[in-house]
Amino acid sequence: MVNLKKNFEDALEFANNKVCIIRCDLNLPIIDGEVTDFTRLDKVLPTLKMLLARNSKILLISHLGRPKGKFDENLSLKIIIPHLEKRLGKNIFFAKEDLMKSNEIENKIRKLNVGDVLLIENIRFYKQEEQNEVSFSKKLASFGDIYINESFASSHRAHSSITGISTFLPSFPGKLFQHELKNLNYIIKNLQTAPSIAVLGGSKISTKIEIIENLSKKFNKLLIGGAMANTFLSAEGYKIGKSLNEPDMISKAKLILKKFKDKIIIPQDVIVVTSTENEQNEAVDVKNISENHIIYDIGPKTRKEFYNQILKHEKLLWNGPLGFFEKKPFDNGTNYVSSIVKNHRNKSFFSIAGGGDTISAMKNSGNIEYFSFLSTAGGAFLEFIEGKSLPGIEILNN
Ligand code: 3PG
Repeated sequence: MVNLKKNFEDALEFANNKVCIIRCDLNLPIIDGEVTDFTRLDKVLPTLKMLLARNSKILLISHLGRPKGKFDENLSLKIIIPHLEKRLGKNIFFAKEDLMKSNEIENKIRKLNVGDVLLIENIRFYKQEEQNEVSFSKKLASFGDIYINESFASSHRAHSSITGISTFLPSFPGKLFQHELKNLNYIIKNLQTAPSIAVLGGSKISTKIEIIENLSKKFNKLLIGGAMANTFLSAEGYKIGKSLNEPDMISKAKLILKKFKDKIIIPQDVIVVTSTENEQNEAVDVKNISENHIIYDIGPKTRKEFYNQILKHEKLLWNGPLGFFEKKPFDNGTNYVSSIVKNHRNKSFFSIAGGGDTISAMKNSGNIEYFSFLSTAGGAFLEFIEGKSLPGIEILNN
């Protein structure tokens, strides 16, 4: 558990007529040039509104995607502007000039009136951001009077706009940041005393293998679904046909299954198709998967087993979909198992979900509103639960 030494209310005391630099996470999902989910934007609005009500001038910083230090038209933050304008009911100024090469940003900041909002172009267009370069951090800091980290979702990154900038300005957590930390602390605290279970899905086991191992030490049970489970099935000696999997991870998966055999539960049956074009599907026992099968979801017996397992626990953490939820009916597994959050009547039941795909999958299931808490973070959420220290939190406490 980590507690913050400063709070957002302290920042509000400073806000009057000041330029407040707010690092938020506007890394919103975009498909075919359209934003598909606004959760992260909507969740920072209360912070922006409270600062504006305190007569501040706002300078917004965010990243979008992973442009690796280069300009990429498809990852420009200008896509966010109309949505932000609609929500705040005011014009948003945009600074797309190279902040290391021209004084345009300084000029724009000088002209800001109380109540104005200026958004800087994707901060990851600058390679110095991820390198956490000191001169870059110093430059960013020179744009404002105080710094607020409202990007819990990026606080596992020791980047200029998360940690570097904090060394040059009075720095505070945002309202959402505090809220995320409070809820994650709550579940961490309860892991020692209450029966706890984690549902882990998604496609890439390579990005989650360490997490699975660490969470196995903390949770009483781990339920594994999604394409990630295919590699575990393979590690257990089952045929998985033409299903997505990561052969390089099989030996590691075997070790984990051996070490935590009483904790980890993998599917006992699955929904398969025989071609990506043909949605004819059937449920098969994992012992009967044939060479031309492609696994798209967990099967009905697994759904029931996962559901019943969760019923026996009080604290639930959910990350990742259990099947190919974007394509119906392969969202059935995720939908059925997540309906537990609606049906579980035990008062001490606390459920928390986090991660980009997770929020989309839960929205699709119609069960999202029944979770006790939704984290806007993905990687940061898991690293925090694993017990890792996040640079963005540490720096605020220095
Ligand atoms: C996220 O989507 O989890 C955050 O925006 C962090 O993005 P990153 O993994 O590219 O640093």
